[in-house]
Amino acid sequence: MARVAVVTGGTRGIGEAISSRLKSAGYVVAANYCGNDARAAQFAERTGIAVYKFDVADLAAVQRATEKIKAELGPIEIVVNNAGITRDGTMKKMSREGWDEVLDTNLGGCFNMCKAVWDDMLARSFGRIVNIGSINGQAGQYGQVNYAAAKSGIHGFTKALAQEGAAKGITVNAIAPGYIDTDMVAAVPANVLEKIVARIPVGRLGKAEEIARGVLFLVADDAGFITGSTLSINGGQHMY
Ligand code: CAA
Repeated sequence: MARVAVVTGGTRGIGEAISSRLKSAGYVVAANYCGNDARAAQFAERTGIAVYKFDVADLAAVQRATEKIKAELGPIEIVVNNAGITRDGTMKKMSREGWDEVLDTNLGGCFNMCKAVWDDMLARSFGRIVNIGSINGQAGQYGQVNYAAAKSGIHGFTKALAQEGAAKGITVNAIAPGYIDTDMVAAVPANVLEKIVARIPVGRLGKAEEIARGVLFLVADDAGFITGSTLSINGGQHMY
């Protein structure tokens, strides 16, 4: 039977490409979203992928949603923690709310999703978890202390949970995307983005599909010896 994969933030940007790629590879996909109903409805209609609205930052909501997905699609064997937000600003301007929102969604969301599926994965002796980190969690980024801290946290989270899952058939890996051509990156001021792209050796922004390809590799049944690793996909911008 096809394995069920949940992709958080799975209807737009990098998540949309991941959901679509997993579906074409034969997985049963549940794409989570939180805000944009219209965009999610279009996505569902276009791809035939089931969408589930919940806030990954809210553990109770995550637990309710994963129960619903289990009942409707089957046991969850793959989780791609992709949901992420930015609230960029220098320390001088960043509010405590902007810090909390980013930490709660980007890092807390990983905890909540893993918490909700972990016992079932242990019971089935199988699981594939892929956490989407960032080049900015590896290298830092001006104006992003909240985002860099959360994404850096994801990399530590991945390595710690990988140790807990290793002997139980559960792999936990991270992908660290560089600057990918999505709405999130399009929101970076044009003059700032121009300077960033100039520092990418490959000479362009990445494509969401180039991240999805990495996810497909890591969730495969025969990827059981890959765990606790970080796959950097950044056009050579940061070699780590
Ligand atoms: N290094 C040094 N100085 C920098 C700088 C940098 N990288 N970036 C901006 N500055 C300077 C500017 O030149 C400006 O200087 P002056 O005041 O002397 O003119 C100053 O910082 C900007 O000050 P502001 O008061 O305008 O700062 P702000 O609090 O409004 O923040 C900013 C501006 C949010 C940092 C804005 O520059 C920005 O959006 N930067 C891009 C941040 C970024 O790369 N975000 C990534 C989003 S995509 C993503 O996160 C996905 C992923 O995983 C890769």
